[in-house]
Amino acid sequence: MTKEQLQSLLESLTLEEKVGQLVQCNAGQFIKNQMEITGPEGEMLPAEDLNRVMGSVLTFEDASQAKALQEKHLAADPKKIPLLLMLDVIHGLRTTYPIPLAIGCSFDDSLMAECADMARKESAACGVHVTFNPMVDTARDGRWGRIMETNSEEPLINSRMGAAVVRATQGEDLGNPENVACCVKHYAAYGAGEAGRDYNGVELSERILRETYLPAYKACLDAGARLVMPSFNSLNGVPSVANKWLMNKVLREEWGFGGVVISDYDAVGELVTHGVAEDLKDAARLAMEAGCDIDMVKNAYYLHLADLVREGAVSEEALDRAVFRVLSLKNELGLFENPLRGADEEKEKALYLCPAHREIARRAAEESAVLLKNDGILPLPRTARRLALIGPFAETQHLVGFWSRPGAWKDAVTLPEGIRALAPDTELLIETGCSAAIGDTDESGIMKAVAAARAAEAVILALGEKEDDSGEGRSRAELTLPGMQLELARRVIEANPHTVVVLFNGRPLALTKLEKIAPAILEMWYPGTEAGNAAARLLFGEANPCGKLSVSLPRSVGQLPMSYSRMNTGRPKPGPDSQAFPFSSCYLDTPNLPLYSFGYGLSYTDFAYSSLTLDRETLEKGGSLTVTVTVANRGQAAGKEAVQLYMRDLKASVVRPVQQLIDYKKVFLAPGETARVTFTVTEPQLRFWNFDCEFVSEPGTFALSTGFADHLILTKTFEFL
Ligand code: NOJ
Repeated sequence: MTKEQLQSLLESLTLEEKVGQLVQCNAGQFIKNQMEITGPEGEMLPAEDLNRVMGSVLTFEDASQAKALQEKHLAADPKKIPLLLMLDVIHGLRTTYPIPLAIGCSFDDSLMAECADMARKESAACGVHVTFNPMVDTARDGRWGRIMETNSEEPLINSRMGAAVVRATQGEDLGNPENVACCVKHYAAYGAGEAGRDYNGVELSERILRETYLPAYKACLDAGARLVMPSFNSLNGVPSVANKWLMNKVLREEWGFGGVVISDYDAVGELVTHGVAEDLKDAARLAMEAGCDIDMVKNAYYLHLADLVREGAVSEEALDRAVFRVLSLKNELGLFENPLRGADEEKEKALYLCPAHREIARRAAEESAVLLKNDGILPLPRTARRLALIGPFAETQHLVGFWSRPGAWKDAVTLPEGIRALAPDTELLIETGCSAAIGDTDESGIMKAVAAARAAEAVILALGEKEDDSGEGRSRAELTLPGMQLELARRVIEANPHTVVVLFNGRPLALTKLEKIAPAILEMWYPGTEAGNAAARLLFGEANPCGKLSVSLPRSVGQLPMSYSRMNTGRPKPGPDSQAFPFSSCYLDTPNLPLYSFGYGLSYTDFAYSSLTLDRETLEKGGSLTVTVTVANRGQAAGKEAVQLYMRDLKASVVRPVQQLIDYKKVFLAPGETARVTFTVTEPQLRFWNFDCEFVSEPGTFALSTGFADHLILTKTFEFL
């Protein structure tokens, strides 16, 4: 349709029909499905009435449901305006790839893009028009269960990977039914909820908000994301969906965002619960004033928006603008011409879990795993006659993590399946030992596990968190391994010191006690469909671990929130290993540094860094500086290395972080091979938000280093003039 045709369609709508375009309902109200509802349902209104006017639905299962929903709606809607069908496709649709936090650890934007591309294909075939992805909340507190949904504690990684997802998902042309629109979320600073508790309020200075939390959303919008979802949390006192400063001032005016804003689930209704709206009608008014176009499930708009317009509390122009944005998106997606769009049962069958998709999922799982410790026991020999496979994750398929499709775990390859595929002659002694349930104290299975450990040449001990113990509404106050798992580890390792711990979990755990006793630890996160194959290939050295932590692993909960890019203080601790001095910025009972730092991760080979060179000693506005470092593979195995470039602004008008990742590149090196890795540094990378909240660069000395956080090496300085 042309813009004029869209405009006349808009003009032809009754007030109720206009409002309907801003109403989103749960698909489950109209068709039977197994999809999980992630919040309270709105007042149950007659489905027929909703079906006639509503503009979009969320959460359906497959192409046949997509078609049924669309056809049912079109048959009832006198204006024949197709529905937008939306779904949370967070880390794959049917072929599940690793959770976003894991992919962050790959330090590989192109890998993220490959994963998103395959999710795009499967989503389009399923009939999805909009995915509620990417989630790019910077998160620095592992207590928050939703940290699994983001790529990193570092906004640079979230920005780059988020933008990669948007480009891969939306493609060049949204009119192509193979492409899917992205909704970036959760705007803003949802990851900074107080004390790591989900839905908690956030208090942040504008300076830090802009520096740490906003850039990733902005990067996704710059990449073209068509929708934005405001976050559940209040930000400096105002819930995001009603936050006019955030939405009108920053998002629409400053950033020029012209796309659709959709509330989070029930978030409009929650303005009443938050205590900032009198009732649902008032909530609808507040959300409209803040520029929220679509009301997800609460029916605040459905029930009250027409009256608000009639009473003059909301202007018809504001309503029209919101409706026009929704109609424009439908038009851009080609829905008026092709309402069933990509939905295609045959394609679904051909794409879901196809070999090409499994291959990407497996590679992604391998490249996001982080080898945390290795006393030389890994890789395991394939010739072992008998291995013990112990722990609550030894045999389970529950390795895909939260925000996967209901039942997606049933497609997952287990550890024994992965191991048998590689080492068919090895006998496996499998024992669960204990559960991973929070609060479970049952030790009765440990004896049998110990016996299996004794009888085997080596042990693979699979520990972690239950899949739904991280994710939305899954905050924890303790970050140790739940249940009796640590006790199981103690007794198994005592029985057989040739024990490798493999972890499956969705948040940065505090592994301090485990690290003391385990000879090797491989962090797999939730690897997805190909879990067992990827883990086995890493354990036996078929694949070489190359993940680096995109999030710091703390020693204890008391260190949280924590980020490697912490601000300097006037009394820094003299050195990481120095004794705690009470009048310095330190803890009396634990070191300042995490157990495993951001950017850390081992390999089966040995990478050596040398010759960091800058092509110039000075940099001026508009200019650029080339940084080069030599990386050599000195070991026996081929491998990939994520080369990281850190910066420190030595003096500025406001306190700056002690280290800041400004670029990264992943390189592959055969044994004996050497690469010169180059980075370009330009003035915008030196900018920060000053006291007056201006984005500036200031002249002075800057240090550049490689290595990883807290272990920087080969530092060189330059002057910014
Ligand atoms: C609530 C979550 O916060 C959001 O991330 C998700 O997209 C919506 N529910 C829809 O399922």
